[in-house]
Amino acid sequence: MKIKGKEYQTIWFDEKNQAVKIIDQTKLPHQFTIKDLKTVKDAINAIKVMEVRGAPLIGGTAAYGIVLAIMEKNDPNFIKKSSEELIQSRPTAINLKWAVDRMTKKLSGVNNNEFLKVALDEAKAICEEDVKFCKNIGLNGLKIIEEIYNKKKDKVNILTHCNAGWLATINWGTATSPIYHAHKKGIPVHVWVDETRPRNQGANLTSYELNEEKIPNTVIADNTGGILMQRGEVDMCIVGTDRTLYTGDVCNKIGTYLKALAAKDNNIPFYVALPSSTIDWNIKNYKDIPIEERNSEELSHIEGLDENGNLKKIQIYPKKSKSMNLAFDVTPAKYVTGLITEKGVCEASEKGLKDLFK
Ligand code: MRU
Repeated sequence: MKIKGKEYQTIWFDEKNQAVKIIDQTKLPHQFTIKDLKTVKDAINAIKVMEVRGAPLIGGTAAYGIVLAIMEKNDPNFIKKSSEELIQSRPTAINLKWAVDRMTKKLSGVNNNEFLKVALDEAKAICEEDVKFCKNIGLNGLKIIEEIYNKKKDKVNILTHCNAGWLATINWGTATSPIYHAHKKGIPVHVWVDETRPRNQGANLTSYELNEEKIPNTVIADNTGGILMQRGEVDMCIVGTDRTLYTGDVCNKIGTYLKALAAKDNNIPFYVALPSSTIDWNIKNYKDIPIEERNSEELSHIEGLDENGNLKKIQIYPKKSKSMNLAFDVTPAKYVTGLITEKGVCEASEKGLKDLFK
């Protein structure tokens, strides 16, 4: 999608400099910086500090991380150790392990001197596939937006949480892809963007990318969605997910669950958009999902521009106050109207997912 009118993807391999290029998302929306990842440590760090984030993009970065490991030291022990470190770098988004496992499988039985070529081709394939899947998610979700528009004959108001936009994937996004497709088709859409404390991915990233594509959007504080739903100002919700269990339970950015409850209470459809790489076919009980707990400084401090236009981080509440920063929560399947996938829309249930994918 576009930034200042120029098409980008979130990650790509630069043959000339033999480096992986990423857009540093910790600097957005105030600074647009492209960064080189040259070692597997760079890739691990980029995932940990969230220079790259969002489940599909974390997966793509991990795949390229294996490429970087091979470039550094073409030694099976080093690659194995690097794979393990990559998987540990963020625990909740399953795309990370999915991508590393896929790379490992592809490399098994391959001769050492072929490792780099095979790994690079596979990392590119993972990313190209994600673009294709996210595009299809958009086309499948478009039909739902179209249906609402045909009944309402007026602007469709969509609420989203966090950033499940193109910046969270390789391109198109998951939750935003139907919105981009609707906009391209001339359907009037307006997006309520949950700010998404503590890291503000909604305000900093979703609103930014929608602005760049000229899609009307309004940032709201995380607690505002409920009253907007009661007032009839939300037609549907679409969110992304970091891990959706085969039972249909959806793990996503903290606060998603509360939006789903409010949507249920107000009879508003609540959709989750995801590529199949985000489905966890093993865990049955949502309590077994590893929920990432991040540094409490993400809550107690905030970054923005000062009066001179310089990036500045400030503390916003007492140093003495204890804080807790759980990054994800789980929305039980019963609150999810449907899962929008690359293969179609299905019920959030074991049957729904298995009918579509097995
Ligand atoms: O902590 P983040 O910013 O990586 O969390 C991102 C989300 O929660 C997204 O909704 C999810 O990864 C889906 S991205 C298409």
